[in-house]
Amino acid sequence: MVSLTSDMSPLHPDRNLALELVRATEAAAIRAVPFIGRGAKEAADGAAVDAMRAFFSTVNFDGTIVIGEGEKDNAPMLYNGERVGNGKGPQCDVAVDPIDGTSLTAAGRQNALSVIAVSDHGSMLDASSVFYMDKLVTGPAGVGVVDIRLPIGENIRLLAKALGKPVDEIVVSVLNRPRHEQLIADIREAGAGTRLMSDGDVAGGINAARHNARTDMCVGIGGSPEGIVTACAIKALGGHIQGVLAPRDDAEREKGRDAGLKVDGEVYEADDLVKGKNTIFVATGVTDGQLVQGVRRDGDFIYTESVVLRGASGTLRRISSEHLTSKWL
Ligand code: FBP
Repeated sequence: MVSLTSDMSPLHPDRNLALELVRATEAAAIRAVPFIGRGAKEAADGAAVDAMRAFFSTVNFDGTIVIGEGEKDNAPMLYNGERVGNGKGPQCDVAVDPIDGTSLTAAGRQNALSVIAVSDHGSMLDASSVFYMDKLVTGPAGVGVVDIRLPIGENIRLLAKALGKPVDEIVVSVLNRPRHEQLIADIREAGAGTRLMSDGDVAGGINAARHNARTDMCVGIGGSPEGIVTACAIKALGGHIQGVLAPRDDAEREKGRDAGLKVDGEVYEADDLVKGKNTIFVATGVTDGQLVQGVRRDGDFIYTESVVLRGASGTLRRISSEHLTSKWL
């Protein structure tokens, strides 16, 4: 039985907020379109940031950005600590990624998303002082089965057994980076297939956790903020996520330790990444991908596709919108 009590309290992010936030990711995705395939990732990100921020001010909530575009000095907008919303609704932690996949957008490649995640105030881990996190994401079959402390081959065998399919049918997505050379070799050595991603491990994680998706597991080192954002979505999908911070050097390790983070290989479980079930994750496709279609303009109309995931109800909703082009000129 699903408890919906959180919806009755003004203190928690509710389903109306989830739907309101889609307007902001839609706007960010639409504004990024002129930059798709134009080789200008900062300009694409800037346009998406401006659009998202403008919509935030109209939304009924009292949000604090925990994961944003960076420290205030370097990020004039949507910086960590910035208050967003009209201040009237529930107090929330907010993570924004106006474009996850700025390089994908600049190159005109697939899988770029505009993303917002929201959770109860004080529930999101602020991992911003350590850039990278090692992650292990699966769907519900992996819960209580896989563990990031185990060798990848062992996790693949355990997941295959839990899914009731042969190891050679397991597909593991991983960012295609030199740091993952051994990991990729180990996945193949175990008998599984790889889906190498050029960027965008938020979409990669969600796709691995979704029912009926083409990948079964997403592993490897990507951005720490992306790990927190992904955790908000995985809660709604009932999947498995664990993270281990991966400082690049001693200075970053020290910085992380000073910020109270676990930087010596300790595991962050889903509830350590984001506490509780009151999570909302919304994403709109910038470019086409497995999760959602990208923005498409056809004469007088602009079409967007978004997903809304709510931890409290365990739902994934798809929202297809038609926008009048004339309103966006
Ligand atoms: P950006 O949108 O900021 O370019 O991030 C894209 C991304 O691929 C993330 O999805 C991923 O977590 C991170 O970059 C990986 O970092 P790196 O490119 O340094 O390996």
